[in-house]
Amino acid sequence: MNMSRCLITQREVQSFIEGCMVAVGTKPGHAKSLAEVLVEGDHRGHYSHGLNRMDMYVKDIQTGICEKDGEPTIVKESVATALVNGNNLLGPVVGNFCMDLAIRKAREVGIGWVVAHGSNHFGIAGYYSMQALKENMIGMSYTNTSPLVMPTRAKECTLGTNPISVAAPAKDGDSFVLDMATSAVALGKVELHHRRAQRRGPGAHRGCEETGGYKGYGLGLMVEVFCGILAGAQYSRHVRTWKVTDKVADLGQCFVAINPENFAAGFNDRMSDLLTLHRNLEPAELDTPVLSPGDPERSNIEKCAKLGGIPYHINVVNHMNGVAKKIGVTPLLPTNVPVPE
Ligand SMILES: NC(=O)c1ccc[n+]([C@@H]2O[C@H](COP(=O)([O-])OP(=O)(O)OC[C@H]3O[C@@H](n4cnc5c(N)ncnc54)[C@H](O)[C@@H]3O)[C@@H](O)[C@H]2O)c1
Repeated sequence: MNMSRCLITQREVQSFIEGCMVAVGTKPGHAKSLAEVLVEGDHRGHYSHGLNRMDMYVKDIQTGICEKDGEPTIVKESVATALVNGNNLLGPVVGNFCMDLAIRKAREVGIGWVVAHGSNHFGIAGYYSMQALKENMIGMSYTNTSPLVMPTRAKECTLGTNPISVAAPAKDGDSFVLDMATSAVALGKVELHHRRAQRRGPGAHRGCEETGGYKGYGLGLMVEVFCGILAGAQYSRHVRTWKVTDKVADLGQCFVAINPENFAAGFNDRMSDLLTLHRNLEPAELDTPVLSPGDPERSNIEKCAKLGGIPYHINVVNHMNGVAKKIGVTPLLPTNVPVPE
């Protein structure tokens, strides 16, 4: 058994995060939206973008650098597009507003392309793109972030880990879900390694030319085109320094929904064929089957279902309980189910 991990039910984590956010003054509906995105991050195995990040959002509300009340507003709109002002609300509040709007437009005219300025950190990009799957549509989401990545050949960090997510529905609930940082490693993974007190974290953020790092650099810039530039938000080196909350984040984000019904018939069938074709490829090494994007996350969800909760590193739980204590919130209560190695 793994003594450094404990199992906590999704419901417990959800209400704990909501409790902490409400305790510092967040509007309950907004606290709920944030908690849902963070729990989904953990559930999908992206522990770097779940409970582990709660203290950052608590601090953003406590310091008043992020708004705790209000709603995003539409600044400009056409049948297929919208520019939204996130009004400096929590990222998931802005993200849900924009993705809902994009889906509504795609239902009406086949595509909805919505960009926002005045937003904040929104958690896993896949949370928003996957909303489109519920409507049998393709979803995309992008966000810029604080500069942490050095462009190929440069010495200065001018790009964030700028994630990309594209989700596309196949048959019988199956789907393609690409959800990735455009840097070799998501920053959260490095941070999580530190919190878990492992000695060495995964590598640097620099894109080496020999290993094609300029492709990630190009994708990071593409995210800026869709987000910071298109939305008129902060971009590149103008985005505030990571975890330095001396000014509002004013992040740019982009949310797209596309209705396959407006294109060639049989989309879901071909998607299923595409995914199966790849999953059935003969693996180069016997015990590592070929996956399609979204499969690793699916395995983690299955693992959580089997265990009856989400396994957390004890250091993450202790750290968050320390945060909760300071704001008078009941600590997280792990189950007594042991977590296997
Ligand atoms: N909000 C932000 O500022 C921000 C910034 C960076 C990253 N993130 C989030 O962090 C999370 C982690 O990002 P990451 O880049 O570390 O993800 P990752 O490297 O774990 O996975 C990236 C993608 O590759 C797929 N994948 C993994 N192994 C695969 C395999 N063997 N075969 C085929 N596909 C495979 C995954 O399904 C996923 O779609 C994401 O949810 C991302 O949205 C958020």
